[in-house]
Amino acid sequence: MLLAIESSCDESAAALFDVESYLKDGKSLSESLVSHGISSQIDLHKTYGGVVPELAAREHLKNLPVIVEEVLSLASEKRGQKISMDELSAIAVTQGPGLKGCLLVGVSYAKGLSMQLGLPLIPVNHLEGHVLSALLCETLQSEESVFPALCLLVSGGHTQLLYCKAPGSYECLASTMDDAAGEAFDKVGTLLGLSYPAGAAVSALARKAESKDLVLPIGVPGDDSHFSFSGLKTAAVRMIQAEQPNIEKDPSRVSDIAYALEVAIVEALSRKLERVLKGELYSGAEKPKSLFLSGGVAANERLRNSLAEIANRYDLQFLVPRMEFCTDNAAMIGVGACVRLKREPELLESENIGSYDFPVLPRFPLSLVSSLGVV
Ligand code: KG4
Ligand code: ZN
Repeated sequence: MLLAIESSCDESAAALFDVESYLKDGKSLSESLVSHGISSQIDLHKTYGGVVPELAAREHLKNLPVIVEEVLSLASEKRGQKISMDELSAIAVTQGPGLKGCLLVGVSYAKGLSMQLGLPLIPVNHLEGHVLSALLCETLQSEESVFPALCLLVSGGHTQLLYCKAPGSYECLASTMDDAAGEAFDKVGTLLGLSYPAGAAVSALARKAESKDLVLPIGVPGDDSHFSFSGLKTAAVRMIQAEQPNIEKDPSRVSDIAYALEVAIVEALSRKLERVLKGELYSGAEKPKSLFLSGGVAANERLRNSLAEIANRYDLQFLVPRMEFCTDNAAMIGVGACVRLKREPELLESENIGSYDFPVLPRFPLSLVSSLGVV
């Protein structure tokens, strides 16, 4: 059994995978996931309008042992027999990117547990976890048939379009020059009176829109190979100011602004993706077989529908994780570790146990994963 731990931002999370079934019996990742749990700190940070790093780190210290106990007891319930720490054969933990104090708490906890139990410890890149979380898709037939893949990774901190030749090899085709897509949802959503993180609430409001007359700008004038959401944010601020008299008359007008915001963000992401697929922004690589959508913003229904439609048109297999695995979770960290163990089973051998000497990496771009040559 593999225990995965995530603590890079404001969610303390743990997951258990039957890694032996995955590696030896050919079970899929979603069949091998035994239990998972998340202890969210959203309510704690809400009052501050964003995550307070120091508070978040202290919460992880308190929550991690509790959530680990919880996933062990969920696994015991599911299996009908006691699953304890003795059943563990490996531990995986988020090494970065993320908030330094939060990563330090998670990695120190995982190191302590691994040393105490004499188990291998596998550090995982949080972004790689998001990308590979698409492999938890229940409809996935075979992992081998999905690569190379294009991946749109959209979270609160990142907006990247990646070419993934195979797990461990990531090339960034486009990324944001300023705000991330999730950040645009959060910042404008906050101005609309919604609490942080506002993405899901913006989306819920947008569904109630009655009038679709408001339009926000899409795309980056001048530089086409990147995303940019700061212009959209400024335009949204102006729109909110201009619409104030209408909002006062009819508060439901905010739904129309939320709709305009969601449409503009989804369009900006979809158009760039189509340009890549048409070979306008990138060519020469082997044609992708599938399209992944991952990260917190992948929970957005309009975006999921738009990308499903594009994948269909370009004859790509479309993989998107279940809603609960879009935002930060530990199952995605477990997936990163399981997939790596498939490539490097020697990490489980006794002579490799004990290599606990790795740092946390608050900045850890996916290009570094590729250059470490883990493929
Ligand atoms: O991946 P994630 O949990 O954390 C980071 O690593 O950043 O992503 C969180 C982001 C937040 O910006 C949140 O507003 C956004 O995902 N989000 C959504 C939705 N659900 C979460 N954005 C749009 N629509 C949603 N349904
Ligand atoms: Zn994340």
